[in-house]
Amino acid sequence: MDSILVTGNGPLNGRIPIAGAKNACLTLMPATLLSDEPLTLTNAPRLSDIRTMTTLLQSLGAEVTTLQDGQVLAMSSHDLNNHTADYDIVRKMRASILVLGPMLARDGHAVVSLPGGCAIGARPVDLHLKALEAMGAELDLRDGYVHAKASGGLKGGKVEFPFVSVGATENAVMAATLAKGTTVITNAAREPEIVDLVQCLRKMGAQIEGEGAGTITIQGVDRLHGATHPVVTDRIELGTYMLAPAICGGEVELLGGRLDLVGAFCEKLDAAGIDVTETRDGLTVKRRGDRVQAVDVVTEPFPGFPTDLQAQMMALLCTAEGTSVLEEKIFENRFMHAPELIRMGASIDVHGGTATVTGVDRLKGAPVMATDLRASVSLILAGLAAEGETVVSRVYHLDRGYEHVVRKLEAVGARIERISNQ
Ligand code: UD1
Repeated sequence: MDSILVTGNGPLNGRIPIAGAKNACLTLMPATLLSDEPLTLTNAPRLSDIRTMTTLLQSLGAEVTTLQDGQVLAMSSHDLNNHTADYDIVRKMRASILVLGPMLARDGHAVVSLPGGCAIGARPVDLHLKALEAMGAELDLRDGYVHAKASGGLKGGKVEFPFVSVGATENAVMAATLAKGTTVITNAAREPEIVDLVQCLRKMGAQIEGEGAGTITIQGVDRLHGATHPVVTDRIELGTYMLAPAICGGEVELLGGRLDLVGAFCEKLDAAGIDVTETRDGLTVKRRGDRVQAVDVVTEPFPGFPTDLQAQMMALLCTAEGTSVLEEKIFENRFMHAPELIRMGASIDVHGGTATVTGVDRLKGAPVMATDLRASVSLILAGLAAEGETVVSRVYHLDRGYEHVVRKLEAVGARIERISNQ
């Protein structure tokens, strides 16, 4: 298994291009199942999660062709010949559940494996299933699979989520586009990835209102047609690389960066002593003083501080002046990076969903292990400013969500290399 060697050094300077959003692409791809005409996505990120979704769609009979070095995905679901999403693929990636709503809406039946456990908590799919039931789906859970049927097609209904779920909102919106009548989703997720999905569905002929607000209304249509759509910028990749100059000093421009994607995150950066400025091509980040200040962070659904940036923010706060409290409100068990950061000399106390971080002068390089996608990149960020060498193992997590991480950080002056351990 490969590992990444990071040697702490000085300030970082230059530009980093930000890719299309993994999480948007993973919901835009299953949208191809809603139409028998081609759907083409541009600005797609080159990631192993995207390859897993490609394999899943192909297993259902969809054609997926990657063009322009993987940045364009040309898809067609003209000849779907299988309606079962197999455990072997679904277990690799929870987002696989997003094929359920579209397949059921289009053909009235679908069988999808339950995703199973996950390193960052239990992560059930009950809200996805309740939403589809509200549209008239009959569901049967057996042998680890959801067997879904909608004889005569899905019908518009009232979907009231007890709390916000990004994935359940996406499944519900896609399913409702082809349901008969009107569907109203309350307590819908407002993430930019949902807005991006709705914009794409609208190009395909869907009638949807209210995306980005808490209530989404969908008027079902008989069929959707083909479209071409650019994937929105990855706000998590953006936030991650914004932290590189915040931790190391220097000035880095994030190409394609947009303030509206990272508002709550930027407020915390400002409080920590980091300047973020809009430029013609994106955002520039620069630390104001020699050391950042402690800040408290609570993760929340969008527009709040994203859980997917919590681990990286913790890496920053490890060397802040003062004590910061990070509260994780979205997922249980999402502080697995803390023991690894402690191995690098950080002072962190975790109690339940709260981590208290007292800044130290400098972290020290150490061998550490990535436990999930965002944890792995937080360890790389910590290693960039640590004294000596940090070796991050289990980097396959990283390949799920960050394209060319070594190349992008090297380009701004980081000392980082991938070590292949065959
Ligand atoms: C998506 C993102 C993930 C991000 C998360 C929260 C994708 C592919 N992944 O995950 O990177 O961290 O949003 O911003 O887009 N829940 C239930 N029942 C359900 C569904 C969710 O209890 O049926 C719970 C989850 O366990 C979690 C919370 O709801 O505690 C929010 O999860 P959700 O928003 O659904 O996350 P995902 O869509 O899986």
